[in-house]
Amino acid sequence: MTSPLSEIGTVTIVRHPELTEQVRADIADIWHATTANGTPLEEDPPRTKHDSVNAADRALAAVERGDDHLWVAFDGPTVIGAVFLVANASRSEQHWMHVKAMMVRPSRQRGGVGSLLLEAAHRYAQVELRLDRLLLTVRRGTGAAEFYERHGYRVVGWLPRVTRTPSGDRDNWSMTREMQSDPDDAYPGLLQ
Ligand SMILES: CC(C)(COP(=O)(O)OP(=O)(O)OC[C@H]1O[C@@H](n2cnc3c(N)ncnc32)[C@H](O)[C@@H]1OP(=O)(O)O)[C@@H](O)C(=O)NCCC(=O)NCCS
Repeated sequence: MTSPLSEIGTVTIVRHPELTEQVRADIADIWHATTANGTPLEEDPPRTKHDSVNAADRALAAVERGDDHLWVAFDGPTVIGAVFLVANASRSEQHWMHVKAMMVRPSRQRGGVGSLLLEAAHRYAQVELRLDRLLLTVRRGTGAAEFYERHGYRVVGWLPRVTRTPSGDRDNWSMTREMQSDPDDAYPGLLQ
């Protein structure tokens, strides 16, 4: 396991930890807990545990191939959160990455773990990867946009009707954060 990047209390953040069976299972568990029926929105179609394990496996395979980056929050040996930075295939899009699967175990949310994970990913994106910016999409109404705004992201557009739910299609917000300049100088954002 690589050395911890940051910590609060007994929580440590590790980039690219050894992906033991237990770590993989914990990540799939949190993936499921944060996306299964009822979370993050009541209206989401149900996801099976099998869906979540497959989604987590695909994301971890891209990390193992060396395409993407992963930070994991541990409390002792137990995984309590994770975040991925996902690269673009195109050579003309190597100066930015996507933030994906930002997740904290529900029982540990609002305790600063998500912020530690995101700040660790930001430092690496800025200093090691020298990225210009990070992009992500969020669902309205989950609280995630408020979380990202606190970390310098601004809403710069929306993707109409990209999420299909039993009660209708929903829009997503696109958010970006500048990594090499003051995030507040770059885009005022659409939601002022
Ligand atoms: C979004 C998420 C990663 C934040 O992680 P966290 O550890 O709970 O966040 P932190 O404790 O570091 O930061 C909390 C701050 O973020 C904002 N925030 C986080 N969750 C929020 C919510 N549900 N509603 C409103 N604001 C929220 C608030 O400003 C909050 O500060 P406060 O508790 O003082 O009000 C976590 O809640 C999560 O896993 N959610 C489910 C999955 C998800 O929606 N991921 C984002 C997909 S794009």
